Amino acid sequence: MERVALAFSGGLDTTVCVGLLEEEYGYDEVIGVTVDVGQPDEEFDEAEETAGALDVDQYVVDAREEFATLCLDSLKANATYQGYPLGTALARPVIANAILETATEHDCDAVAHGCTGKGNDQLRFEAVWRDSDLDVIAPVRELELTREWEMEYAEERGLPVESGNEGDWSIDTNLWSRSVEGAKLEDTGYVPPEDIYEWTDAPGEAGEADLVEIEFEDGEPVAVDTVGEPSTSPRPPAGNGEGLGPVELIEYLNELAGAYGVGRTDMMEDRMLGLKVRENYEHPAATVLLNAHEALEGLVLTQEERDFKAQVDQQWSNKAYQGLVDAPLVGALEGFIDRTQSRVTGTVTVKLEGGSARPVGRESEYAAYSEDAASFNTETVEGQNITQKDATGVAKYHGFQGRLANTVIDANDKRTLATDGSGAGENGEE
Ligand code: ARG
Repeated sequence: MERVALAFSGGLDTTVCVGLLEEEYGYDEVIGVTVDVGQPDEEFDEAEETAGALDVDQYVVDAREEFATLCLDSLKANATYQGYPLGTALARPVIANAILETATEHDCDAVAHGCTGKGNDQLRFEAVWRDSDLDVIAPVRELELTREWEMEYAEERGLPVESGNEGDWSIDTNLWSRSVEGAKLEDTGYVPPEDIYEWTDAPGEAGEADLVEIEFEDGEPVAVDTVGEPSTSPRPPAGNGEGLGPVELIEYLNELAGAYGVGRTDMMEDRMLGLKVRENYEHPAATVLLNAHEALEGLVLTQEERDFKAQVDQQWSNKAYQGLVDAPLVGALEGFIDRTQSRVTGTVTVKLEGGSARPVGRESEYAAYSEDAASFNTETVEGQNITQKDATGVAKYHGFQGRLANTVIDANDKRTLATDGSGAGENGEE
């Protein structure tokens, strides 16, 4: 008895995979595993319905807490890829691990996914799975299926597949972001209609601005609250937003900032295989938190730490994009990141307004900041024994090396002109 666990969403790809795993790959039994990382309820209803119609045992694994914690953790590395907050990429290893565990529990011989051979997700799933003894199967890629062929296959067998409106776009939703791609968006010049967005209202429609305060401890958000009476926005659940769990904190900020149109991205993304793809994303909570986190780092980290950390963050984000969070490099980078985050404790005020989430205030007991030193009004810096006048020497030296080098260059240029006579020759003044 050969059994395979399939990453199952109930969409066209995975629905078709069920039949193919039996017919083409000879498995006796397929079980479907759906991992909850914050998809909308309808997706679970659809998956359950389809599994029922296909007579497949379907298991739902709740990984929301684990995923939300990972998202908040990723703030420490200011995790973005080509400018947008990593969402799908962070979710895949969590999903892949949950499927692997379920497969093992149910004595499966193999694991399968319905990803195509063009995207990133095949690589992210398999990076986790190929570390196990189970066989890895990718029917859509291996049998070179097209969407058209899948539609026909499903129709012939009377398989339940949704069609029409939503089916136009390929959508991937989790707590941290909603991604929309495919169909007309493949035309890079196509301006998407407002209705592809579900988490964000058109910027500008929300009216007044809202101020939201985010409290961080060791680089992680631990409380949120709106300042004053929020205009149209929802109050944070659980009173003043303290003690919110990671899931609730993200959900709350998605709703609050989404109403101001915060967190929309329309971009060309370079996938791992080298293909460029048109992507649209929505990520209100991630944008608020990333902006706030960076603002707090700006207050507490030294300039050289910030410069170096930007490189570390980018390396971390690249590995996360690739789904290779277990790479030794990641652990090493986190050694540095964690060392810096112990000071990223404090409060940031963010203004939500017309599609933007702008930090407008920041405070920390770890501020590497002296009001005395920066102020135009004070003469001395307390405890440091330096005054404005001390900068005179620094100002004299500033640019000294370049001035010296330019003098030498000028002198050499003149000498060259004089010896080869080229300047005169060209002007015909012989
Ligand atoms: N391109 C993004 C990534 O690789 C998101 C893909 C999401 N999938 C989708 N069908 N919308 O992370």
